[in-house]
Amino acid sequence: MPWPTPIDANISLIQPGQIEAAIQLFRAQLLEHGITTSPTPIRSVIEKVAADEKRGFILVAMIEDGTLVGAAFGSAFLGVEHGGESGWLEELYVRPEWRERGIGTRLVAEVIRMAKERGWRALDLEVEAGRRRVISLYERYGFQSQSRARFCLKLE
Ligand SMILES: CC(C)(COP(=O)(O)OP(=O)(O)OC[C@H]1O[C@@H](n2cnc3c(N)ncnc32)[C@H](O)[C@@H]1OP(=O)(O)O)[C@@H](O)C(=O)NCCC(=O)NCCS
Repeated sequence: MPWPTPIDANISLIQPGQIEAAIQLFRAQLLEHGITTSPTPIRSVIEKVAADEKRGFILVAMIEDGTLVGAAFGSAFLGVEHGGESGWLEELYVRPEWRERGIGTRLVAEVIRMAKERGWRALDLEVEAGRRRVISLYERYGFQSQSRARFCLKLE
């Protein structure tokens, strides 16, 4: 099968008028992982991050007609292990019909560039086991697998 044509998406920091579309992207991502969400808490997170750069940044990928087809969220944290401000690559998503055209790669590259620009010392992320292509994308940029398991205690 021929490769899809790479697409020249515009990657930029989210703007207020793009919040609705970004909510849909993050909800779709979580749904792909089997997690059903409501829009209100996602909107609250996006608005907080967009309003305060100390919290991190949200990038969106927009195609020529103005449609948002992808998004990434780098969430800032202070880490003792990393020795200062660092980031968690919290979300990375490209709509299925726009995948394998280089958009995910460009989002990751821009997340790394912005993280460096902000002086973050490291970027952490988690990947569901078996997501080979996502793993290869991260490995291309030098992310290294850690022998740790993630635990979560819901507090609400
Ligand atoms: C992970 C994800 C963001 C990647 O987005 P994407 O836009 O498809 O990423 P890219 O197109 O840059 O790269 C994906 C693959 O397509 C390949 N590719 C890139 N441009 C291509 C092109 N023009 N033609 C063919 N293949 C291409 C890349 O080489 C890469 O393959 P490889 O890693 O095996 O080499 C997307 O698949 C996604 O949203 N998945 C669901 C959510 C998810 O799992 N997120 C990560 C959570 S940790």
